[in-house]
Amino acid sequence: MVEKSFVMMKPDAVSRRLMGKILSRFEEKGLKIVAIKLLQISKALAEEHYGEHKEKPFFNSLIDYITSAPSLAMVIEGDDAISVIRKIVGATNPKEADLGTIRGDYAMDMGRNIIHASDAPESAKREIALFFNEDEVIDYDISDNSWIYE
Ligand code: RTP
Ligand code: MG
Repeated sequence: MVEKSFVMMKPDAVSRRLMGKILSRFEEKGLKIVAIKLLQISKALAEEHYGEHKEKPFFNSLIDYITSAPSLAMVIEGDDAISVIRKIVGATNPKEADLGTIRGDYAMDMGRNIIHASDAPESAKREIALFFNEDEVIDYDISDNSWIYE
């Protein structure tokens, strides 16, 4: 099923100039970028985005991290995009993430794991609405579609 996922390069990815390399991984897989925006996340937006972790011991440091420099927010579309993208991103702890995943290849620390991706259809819907207006998510076709999907 065609899905949209909310994906965000965190401040370390932007500040380490890894945006291009990371974006290429999604494009080369055959996924489609349907929205993209560089933004400085406010404390209020960070707290809402990561609301499920409010009671966790790492919450305050997570909010400091996410608001420390600009992030690159995206909506990425494709067949089963939510689970496919979680695989491309890799495990939360970059030391345990498989090599070949973004976190496995580019990160070392749980608190500097460079990228976020939605974990389920409900969270994708919620997160996309939090970061993008409807008219910022573009519906378009790419002509290589029949080379990506049977
Ligand atoms: P994300 O939401 O950012 O895509 O990451 P995730 O699903 O893989 O992991 P999640 O459990 O949702 O955690 C959100 C982010 O909080 C930081 N974290 N730190 N120090 C810790 O124990 C710890 N645990 C999580 C990470 O930056 C993680 O991505
Ligand atoms: Mg998460």
